[in-house]
Amino acid sequence: MKYTYFGQSSFLLETDTHKFLFDPFISPNPLAKTIDITKLEADYILVSHGHEDHVADLIVIAKQTKAKVIAMPEIINWVNKQGVDNVHSMNYGKYTFDFGTVRMVWATHSSSLPDGSYGGNPAGFVLELDGKQIYFAGDTGLTIEMKLLAELYKLNYAILPIGGNYTMNVDDAAIAANYINCDKIIGIHYDTFPVIEIDSANAIENFKRAQKTLLLPAIGETIVL
Ligand code: NI
Ligand code: MN
Repeated sequence: MKYTYFGQSSFLLETDTHKFLFDPFISPNPLAKTIDITKLEADYILVSHGHEDHVADLIVIAKQTKAKVIAMPEIINWVNKQGVDNVHSMNYGKYTFDFGTVRMVWATHSSSLPDGSYGGNPAGFVLELDGKQIYFAGDTGLTIEMKLLAELYKLNYAILPIGGNYTMNVDDAAIAANYINCDKIIGIHYDTFPVIEIDSANAIENFKRAQKTLLLPAIGETIVL
């Protein structure tokens, strides 16, 4: 499986058969100028919550790719109103798709849409895909709820916010990595705005000291999971 980073919380997971895009906020991100959203392909778009830095390009890319949008019912209502009807509405539960399973999980955050409407509860996702289990936390503070994931899964990778202020910071994410019992963490939601800037080298060192690996692929970079 391949992971390509598009900045903030946006990335693509790619198997031999399917492409999954997450939280598309690319064209307004000055750090992501090298990414041409008109070239993006996706079969599914998963949305963690309604904030602008997660949905800015959602409608344009959903229309262009005809991908199926997976999100909370309140977000799906908003997506429908923008003229996108290839959708899968879900809440905190697990569903088996043809490609594998998706479980929506708790995120300690808030969620409103760009027009101010209520976005339902924010969420993260656990995907069972291509023989691997991957957790995308969405925007969340550190929460004891994460311990549940260690009971339910043997996570191969976790994609966690590390920029602080709105979400977990690096130290919180290292604790979260213990809660979820996962050794390989991919950092997201950092450096996009001054309040979430981090020292990347320090962050990687912090994780090493905790016997964990923090991966910080560059925007546009693809890594193999
Ligand atoms: Ni948010
Ligand atoms: Mn955010």
